[in-house]
Amino acid sequence: MAKLEVHYTINGRAHEAYIEPNLTLLEVVRDELRLTGSKEGCGTGDCGACSMIVDGKLVTSCLMLAPQADGAEITTIEGLATNGDLHPVQQAFIDTGAVQCGFCIPGMILAGKVLLDQNPKPDEQEIRSAIAGNLCRCTGYTKIVEAIAAAAEA
Ligand code: FES
Ligand code: FES
Repeated sequence: MAKLEVHYTINGRAHEAYIEPNLTLLEVVRDELRLTGSKEGCGTGDCGACSMIVDGKLVTSCLMLAPQADGAEITTIEGLATNGDLHPVQQAFIDTGAVQCGFCIPGMILAGKVLLDQNPKPDEQEIRSAIAGNLCRCTGYTKIVEAIAAAAEA
């Protein structure tokens, strides 16, 4: 298969890759660009572990073909901290004890960030709805909802 050149701005830095066009964005970001914070849980769009922010929208990157995101601005979990300071949602997950195995957490935190960017004071139902596409096998969600609510107060 003919390879294709793609360009992304990821976490404020320009990246390019020369890829098979049938790779997913998740595969390119993890395997070619070595940003492994985004996880592959299901690979079928059901768990949200692979969530990234692409041009301001939360996407399941396992379902997006890498060429579809050519030219996009992408944020992964690696890009949330600034100058060593954690993003308020990251800090709130730590302070609230919302992390167990951690596998779902990058996607949960990005979902929380997108919510708070659009709705700085969400109620519990709005938080639950914002993370409805992100599955967690460990926490029972209560602490995760508390963490996002705490970040909204920060
Ligand atoms: S790995 Fe993408 S939604 Fe599960
Ligand atoms: S903390 Fe383990 S899957 Fe969510």
